[in-house]
Amino acid sequence: GAGKQRPRVLVAEKIAQSGIELLAQHCEVVVATDWDADTLRRRIGEFDGIVIRSGTRLDADLIARAERLRVIGRAGIGVDNVDVEAATRRGIIVCNAPQSNVVAAAEHTLALMLAVARRVPQAHASLVSGRWERSRFSGTELYEKTLGILGFGRIGRLVAARARAFGMQVVAYDPYVSSERFRELGVERAERPEDVYARADFLSLHLPRTPETERIVDAAALARMREGAYLVNCARGELVDLDALKEALDSGRLAGAALDVFPQEPLTEHPLFGYDNVVVTPHLGASTTEAQDRAGVQTAEQVVAALTGGVVTTA
Ligand code: MLT
Repeated sequence: GAGKQRPRVLVAEKIAQSGIELLAQHCEVVVATDWDADTLRRRIGEFDGIVIRSGTRLDADLIARAERLRVIGRAGIGVDNVDVEAATRRGIIVCNAPQSNVVAAAEHTLALMLAVARRVPQAHASLVSGRWERSRFSGTELYEKTLGILGFGRIGRLVAARARAFGMQVVAYDPYVSSERFRELGVERAERPEDVYARADFLSLHLPRTPETERIVDAAALARMREGAYLVNCARGELVDLDALKEALDSGRLAGAALDVFPQEPLTEHPLFGYDNVVVTPHLGASTTEAQDRAGVQTAEQVVAALTGGVVTTA
């Protein structure tokens, strides 16, 4: 009809079809998951809304070029790849889907813990290449081990509940969470991160990336960890100093590590990738059908609300 133009939304990373369909009911949608950084810089000014995941860095420079932009939808949890301050200054709403993928992240954490404890990827690679090496791949049990958790938010708590079901003791550090939360899950509250390092047979990170948490697991932290402990990181790559981790594995202090996230992504080559006691996945914590459906739909709902004058629950 002769009505006013529909808002234009750029979907810059792969999100669920259900989310795209919802957007398309109200907006003109451009799906551009193959644009390079230059193309995005050149064309971001054409859009009223943009939907991203963790692979697009919306920095102040890019935001300054986004002349028409009114909303940034983050189809997931972390908004550390968005300069929220710069966006807010320009009146751009930033929204996310904070509940969408917490179960997926928690389940992937357990998958990585079990994988590194039982060396599943290494044993798989060995067998499919024609070797039957039963004695090479002896592992370790989670049962009666201590899981240390840094960050006892939604994901950390889901991981704790699952670890308790495996018969693990859990000790966690998070100054922003009430003691009641710890008690109801049978989790011991640590007063300092140091106490978690000293106790953990498995250390799992569930922190957002902030200036305070960047490289929280550095050489000093690793030096406090128990001999033979394992590190699991399904949160953000910037939390761990990879050089220090490599040293801790080389010296034998740590028995293994499982990493889903890296300081630079994508990352396809790293010395640790060749280690027999390291398990890696390419940022798959949120990659389940269920989580992506939720993230896509929840984000689309908010982007539509922002562009049509509805109520938005911002990040
Ligand atoms: C998140 O913050 O939600 C995760 O990093 C997953 C994603 O980018 O989709």
